[in-house]
Amino acid sequence: ARDGGISVDPLRMVAKEMKFLTGNIRQLLGSGHPSLDTVAKYYTQGEGKHVRPLIVLLMSRATALTPKSPRYNLQNSSIDIDSAISPMAILSDVNPSSPTTNPISHTQTSYPASDSDILPSQRRLAEITELIHTASLLHDDVIDHSVARRGQPSANLEFGNKMAVLAGDFLLSRASVALARLRDAEVTELLATVIANLVEGEFMQLKNTVSDEKNPVWKEDTINYYLQKTYLKSASLISKSCRAASLLGGSDAATVDAAYSYGKNLGLSFQLVDDMLDYTISEKELGKPAGADLELGLATAPLIFAWKDNQELGALVGRKFGQQGDITRARELVLQSNGLEQTRALAEEYSNKAISAIESFPDSEAKDGLIEMAIKTLKRRK
Ligand code: FPP
Ligand code: MG
Ligand code: MG
Repeated sequence: ARDGGISVDPLRMVAKEMKFLTGNIRQLLGSGHPSLDTVAKYYTQGEGKHVRPLIVLLMSRATALTPKSPRYNLQNSSIDIDSAISPMAILSDVNPSSPTTNPISHTQTSYPASDSDILPSQRRLAEITELIHTASLLHDDVIDHSVARRGQPSANLEFGNKMAVLAGDFLLSRASVALARLRDAEVTELLATVIANLVEGEFMQLKNTVSDEKNPVWKEDTINYYLQKTYLKSASLISKSCRAASLLGGSDAATVDAAYSYGKNLGLSFQLVDDMLDYTISEKELGKPAGADLELGLATAPLIFAWKDNQELGALVGRKFGQQGDITRARELVLQSNGLEQTRALAEEYSNKAISAIESFPDSEAKDGLIEMAIKTLKRRK
């Protein structure tokens, strides 16, 4: 289809699975406590793009036909991912007088009849990636004092910081239960590392540059630090879940590495575009506040590239754009520079690397879908 110039819709290849995603996630998030239940499910109602689950499902299909490792036979036994103990039984455990509050049958997630090459464990992995991502957004909106997300008021605005933080913890916990039920130690280790990486990335971001100088000077390390932070904050989840998807499918080592490399490069490209959109797109279109990075004192790629050619930005970076007029001045200097073009060019480079990483995969619609995701990442406006 790509040769004919007609672009493929990546969603079409996994549409059936995606249709069940939100419902299943909401099942995994059920709590017997009514207000926790509401806050935990809050971000599942908005206009989420579900990029991570979509990539996991496409990767699962694309790697279904690649060479298998001997590990496959061990992993392919039918595991019961819903299993016997209800995660929702927690409240009835402490309150045995009302065992009917959370009947186990309510936790059963549903999937379309299995006529596809995607395994139940891979579908569950897709849900887990969205749970971890959404947990990080709940916490992120508290840290960033954000007032909007996915086209609606942020959870912290709607329910307050305390409930938003606890809801994020709850999502992580349910993601961990679901992960444990996959009964795959390597996959569990990968996704647990992602959670640590998200926190490490956020910590790196709290510090604007390598050191906390008053008037920092641009150096090669400035961009390296930014890229390291970006890997941890954004690319770790996508890359390690691509790796996990192909491990669950029993792929051989070369395929698993290729899947990881695709996810890493796509994740870096994705975040570079995100940082660009923060300068170029309106709040209305983004569904969240625009221009937020400078307000938060953050120097992202467009500014770092602009700074390389204009030392005036150093002082502003040093005080995190905290003085009257700093934000306007910094924005002006970024827009006058070629920082946005350079960011775009770097995003394109990573997107191309993602596409080459999966070059050796056998031709399939799912592979085309992954390629299209890498192209779409560059074109997206939200
Ligand atoms: C969005 O970035 C935030 C992230 C991608 C990760 C944030 C990570 C944490 C808050 C650490 C805690 C992690 C967990 C798993 C609970 P952004 O603020 O640049 O994007 P935005 O514009 O969408 O808010
Ligand atoms: Mg934020
Ligand atoms: Mg943030």
